[in-house]
Amino acid sequence: MPLVNTKELFAKAYDGGYAVGAFNCNNMEIVQAITEAAKECNSPVILQVSKGARNYANPTYLRKMVEAAVEETGLPIVLHLDHGDSFELCKDCIDNGFTSVMIDCSSKSFEENIEITRKVVEYAHDASKHPQCPYVTVEAELGTLAGIEDEVAVEHGSESYTRPEDVEEFVKRTGCDSLAIAIGTSHGAFKFKPDQCTRDPETGILLPPPLRFDILEEVSKRLPGFPIVLHGSSSVNQEYVKIINDNGGKMVDAVGVPEAQLRKAAQLAVCKINIDSDLRLAMTAGIREHMVAHPDHFDPRQYVGDGRKYVKEIVKHKINDVLGSNDKI
Ligand code: G3H
Ligand code: 13P
Ligand code: ZN
Repeated sequence: MPLVNTKELFAKAYDGGYAVGAFNCNNMEIVQAITEAAKECNSPVILQVSKGARNYANPTYLRKMVEAAVEETGLPIVLHLDHGDSFELCKDCIDNGFTSVMIDCSSKSFEENIEITRKVVEYAHDASKHPQCPYVTVEAELGTLAGIEDEVAVEHGSESYTRPEDVEEFVKRTGCDSLAIAIGTSHGAFKFKPDQCTRDPETGILLPPPLRFDILEEVSKRLPGFPIVLHGSSSVNQEYVKIINDNGGKMVDAVGVPEAQLRKAAQLAVCKINIDSDLRLAMTAGIREHMVAHPDHFDPRQYVGDGRKYVKEIVKHKINDVLGSNDKI
């Protein structure tokens, strides 16, 4: 099966009450871990590549690795641009075989966001421009998340929730295929400041405030059947944080979105859940643990291999226990 766009995957996910995981890829081991996990779970999967990943790993290498994963697994895989910040970047990805792109102009004015998103949609939906994938799906964003969105850093406290009253006009005027909304998630492994949280009296771990499900419900009422995307959806699983900290790391008060809330979102209109930080934590945990246990090792296959093992483990857990996309092929 060739790479696919998100159209059919999201239609099935919406009707089936589950979400497809969108996992960030930066190197071969991460691509392998995600796609082997998806294969074992019989799950569709979105491999997403940020501008930073393209700069790190080289766009051709990343695309070829994803093509290799398609060949190896036979799964329906989407190759998606994460947080594209310009028409030119989206066009370059579309011209080079991506089947889905995100144009993120959420930090611009409403009108500017519409104008640039519309331009990307026109190009992405024009089969004559890219016959290898006649319909490239486009994700857009309304509202801003705290954290780093590639070059766009949004300070905690300056983020803004999506305004439900804007979404119908935005989707109608842009023609986008899915919409990322801001309901309280943020990028990275430190999603909530300690003063926004309570603390578990036994473990001392931070307990974050709930997401704004009222906004999600209002948005989906206004856009019935339309796929919604959640960014910043790592849960910052504390077992990996502990392995990191027990093996020379220092990640104090790292906290993410509780899995139960993501499960609930996946059962509602959320069809795509973005996860990057959890893979970074798993990779780091595997490598740190290996290095401390085997100070004499210097073969990267040994320690990066352990990182890959943990990434695969966390992706399987997400698919089976959080997203619900297992056995959906
Ligand atoms: O949304 C951000 C993703 O985690 C990608 O991060 O820009 O560092 O590759 P990056
Ligand atoms: P996390 O930092 O929560 O993994 O979010 C990733 C993301 O939204 C990528 O676009
Ligand atoms: Zn994101």
